[in-house]
This record gives sequence, C-alpha cells and structure tokens, in this order.
Amino acid sequence: MTTVRVLGADDAVAVRDIRLEGLRLAPESFGSSWEEEAGQPLTWWRERLAGAARTLGADVDGVLGGILVVSLKSRVKLAHNAEIGAVYVRPAFRRRGVANLLMQSAMDMLRCGEFAGRAKFATLHVTAGNDSARGLYERFGFNVCGQLERELCVDGIFYDELLMRTGLS
Ligand SMILES: CC(C)(COP(=O)(O)OP(=O)(O)OC[C@H]1O[C@@H](n2cnc3c(N)ncnc32)[C@H](O)[C@@H]1OP(=O)(O)O)[C@@H](O)C(=O)NCCC(=O)NCCS
Repeated sequence: MTTVRVLGADDAVAVRDIRLEGLRLAPESFGSSWEEEAGQPLTWWRERLAGAARTLGADVDGVLGGILVVSLKSRVKLAHNAEIGAVYVRPAFRRRGVANLLMQSAMDMLRCGEFAGRAKFATLHVTAGNDSARGLYERFGFNVCGQLERELCVDGIFYDELLMRTGLS
C-alpha cells in the first residue's frame, strides 16, 4: 500500500538517503548536484524539512519510495506563485502511480489543503526529453510555457529545461 505524508525533521536521514540516490542516479533531472548536497551535515537536512517548504513522502509498503517538494514563493510580489520540485521515485517503485499520488497530494495541498487560497499558479522545471515526468505534469494540467536552452550542464553535456505552469483556481 502507498500512502503520502508531509515529512518532518525526524525524517532527515531517510530524506537525505533518497535525495542523494536521486541526484546520483538521475543527475540530469535536477538543478542541484550530488556533490553539493552529499557533504551537508544532518542539521542542514533537518532545517530544510522544518522550513517553509513541504516535503511530501510516499511510503510504499513501509519504505520511503518517493519524494516531492512543494513551496510558496516568499517574496511579496511573487507570493501568488507555488513551486513543485525535487520529484523522485526510486527505480524499484516506478510505473505504479507513486509520482502520480505525490503530485495529487501536492495539488490538493495547494488547492484545498495547508496552502489553499495562497497561490494562483504552480510552476516547475523539467529537463527536455524527460517524457515520463513531462507526461506526469501534463496530466495535472501543466503546460510548457518556456524553454531554457542549455540550462543544465552535467558532465560536459548540456540539457534544455522546460518551464511548466498551471493555474490553481
Ligand atoms: C519521473 C518519475 C518521478 C515518475 O515516477 P513514477 O512513480 O514511475 O510515475 P507514475 O507511476 O505515476 O507514472 C509513470 C508512468 O507509469 C504509468 N503507470 C502508472 N501506474 C501504472 C501501473 N499501475 N502499471 C503500469 N504503468 C503505470 C503511468 O501511466 C506513466 O506512464 P508514462 O511514463 O508512459 O506517462 C520517475 O521516473 C523518476 O523519479 N525519474 C527520475 C527523476 C526524475 O526525472 N524526476 C522528475 C524531475 S522533473
């Protein structure tokens, strides 16, 4: 059975492990790198989990199988914008709807949960060619609204990034 919950500071070790796995196995999917985060002390992970952003975790048969971070922009002029990122599902748990469940929970949080009424738009970035992730976001109403050419560089290879957005009202 898969259940989604908001993770907290007490989940720091599990979140660190799954996040570092994602950065190692799918470096072209994220703006951050394994090298930048692997050296961080546990307190850094605990502070991230205790901060304003919400990290959602999918427990699959008792194992943390996937994560997603949802946040509201904090600056006054941008506060009507939400961001979704850090979406990662462990390879063993893919293609059984775990990311779908995480996205549903994030959209619920924005539309009728803790963040309800705060944001009018949600945005996210996806690497061009990551069709599984792009299809997932399109199923939740996100459309591509921009393309940043050669935005990412991983091991000397450049990747375009797509900016995707949906309205929340
Ligand atoms: C992209 C990613 C998050 C998708 O996670 P996932 O849990 O496999 O996603 P879902 O299971 O919800 O959907 C993925 C596919 O499985 C299919 N699926 C869902 N449930 C299924 C089931 N029970 N049986 C068969 N297929 C199923 C979906 O239709 C979807 O198909 P598509 O890729 O052809 O559109 C995952 O592949 C991943 O972590 N990739 C590496 C990191 C990454 O790219 N992150 C996104 C950054 S923007």
